[in-house]
Amino acid sequence: MMGLSATVARGIAVLAILSPFSSTVAGPVQKPFLEVPPSAFQHREDVKNIFIESYNAYRKFAFGHDDLLPISRSFSDGRNGWGASIVDGMATMRIMGLDDFFNEAVDFVGKIDFSESQTPDTTTIRYLGGLLSSYELSGKQHHILVEKAKQLTDKMAFAWETRNQTIPWRFVDFSTDTPNIGTSNIAEAGTLDMEWSRLSLYTGNDTYRRLAEGSVRTIAGLTDPLPGLAAQGIDPATNAFVGNYITWGGGSDSYFEYLIKYARLTNTNDNLFADTWHTAVDSSIKFLLRTSTVGDHLYLADRDDEGKIVHISSHLACFHGGNWILGGKLLNNETIVNIGLELVEACWNTYASTATGIGPEVFEFISRDSFQPSDTVPNRQQRQFFEQHGFFITSSDYILRPEVLESNFYAWRVTGDTKYLDRAASAVASFRKFLRVDSGGYSGINDVNDANINKGGRVDDTESFWFAEVLKYLYLTFDDPDHISLDKYVFNTEAQPFEAPPAKPVYGSGSPLPPKGPYTMKVAGAPLPAISPIPALSPNPLGIHD
Ligand SMILES: *[C@@H]1O[C@H](CO)[C@@H](O)[C@H](O)[C@H]1NC(C)=O
Ligand SMILES: *[C@@H]1O[C@H](CO)[C@@H](O)[C@H](O)[C@H]1NC(C)=O
Ligand SMILES: *[C@@H]1O[C@H](CO)[C@@H](O)[C@H](O)[C@H]1NC(C)=O
Repeated sequence: MMGLSATVARGIAVLAILSPFSSTVAGPVQKPFLEVPPSAFQHREDVKNIFIESYNAYRKFAFGHDDLLPISRSFSDGRNGWGASIVDGMATMRIMGLDDFFNEAVDFVGKIDFSESQTPDTTTIRYLGGLLSSYELSGKQHHILVEKAKQLTDKMAFAWETRNQTIPWRFVDFSTDTPNIGTSNIAEAGTLDMEWSRLSLYTGNDTYRRLAEGSVRTIAGLTDPLPGLAAQGIDPATNAFVGNYITWGGGSDSYFEYLIKYARLTNTNDNLFADTWHTAVDSSIKFLLRTSTVGDHLYLADRDDEGKIVHISSHLACFHGGNWILGGKLLNNETIVNIGLELVEACWNTYASTATGIGPEVFEFISRDSFQPSDTVPNRQQRQFFEQHGFFITSSDYILRPEVLESNFYAWRVTGDTKYLDRAASAVASFRKFLRVDSGGYSGINDVNDANINKGGRVDDTESFWFAEVLKYLYLTFDDPDHISLDKYVFNTEAQPFEAPPAKPVYGSGSPLPPKGPYTMKVAGAPLPAISPIPALSPNPLGIHD
């Protein structure tokens, strides 16, 4: 048996070298000379006003806590109680020019005490991402933002318990600096490298980057159930996948998302990240793409532990269209861009088809190979809905998630087709009509397909991604496309933009060169710093003490 696993390991190494793709991350992303029509600016102001009124409700009833409860006019603390809405929302304040809110947030951040409570998931993307993005967007003058980011991450680094551990434990108890042992997933373990490498850049301590990158490298080096498509569960004690479940939805999503974004953010010379992303996309095209028997909508299915296709998708998964459009552009691959645009269509259809004009949390669809054991057999009502719309709803709530509008933003900036502006405007109108409550806050709803909200009921929670993501993507959709251009910034998975270095030129491939500078930052008024490519990580050991 020992011999066999050694052979397998050598086989993997060879496969990695013979990767079918040699990806250069360089293509320009946005449509050149793109402008918004004059009508967009009114919509942009509408979005800003929604931010102001819902953030004021947060300030009035929940300031310093994580979430506003907009109906009970109270708060909840599901994200450590460090003021998630403030830290997650502060880059949006900066982008919208809401400087009073922003300065208040900077003062607040200076007083956060990270020495208590556990870290539930998403601490990196919301807190660390929010701090570092805000630091950049405000001209790198508020050093307290980096100092707090460092305090926070030095705590999170205890998730690597031993010197040889490459995948972090999922939770750390901040009062004792000890990790909670247990299974993790590739989204948790693989969605750190953008933020932690930024922290290394601003602190000069390369350990953060090495730890985060090492986790991704370990995942990318395992034998996948399908090429490039890592399984969802992972055990940090053994570096082995737990089960074989494949999805672009929750639990896996941002691992795939960051492979291509990290390559672009760092301009790394190591092709591992972009190649693994392309391999994942290629396998998804071959094995997961499905067309609905009604409407010919294009979906990415899941694949269960036994290798059976599950005809399911979700609001969370709908980031994929935007990610494929971005990655396809970076790799100069129009096939991937075009499939991405079709995925955007199908996700938007989940909004366009409901009574509120807002899409559901989870939905399923029927394609020619449907009715596998893992598929829901639709009831009569769902069947009728499918016959009209090409999908059916299996979780009908909307909890202020961004992904459909996020992908819509990418589709707009890349194609310049004004239908994406119309869709964003339609979503804004639906939000105002169906989500606004008397406190001035915005609530989730239980049934997106019931326009009688009082009957379906509301979800009494405004999670921080309403401020960080939904309103930022909507605002930027209607804003001057040069503001936070996709050729100059890479968004983390919580919509926190990071400055990207000028894209690497492509040599000898016949591909167009990326646009020439000047790379000036409109927001902060400061020139973009030269960010040198970060050298590749040396192999193990990955000690956290350098
Ligand atoms: C760099 O960060 C790591 C992780 O938090 C820490 O253990 C180490 O002491 C830091 N190194 C320096 C020189 O500050
Ligand atoms: C790391 O080292 C410890 C102690 O030597 C060992 O028990 C553990 O199995 C190792 N973990 C991995 C992931 O190699
Ligand atoms: C673009 O990507 C697709 C999917 O992986 C692949 O089949 C195709 O060969 C690529 N096209 C080019 C021009 O590289």
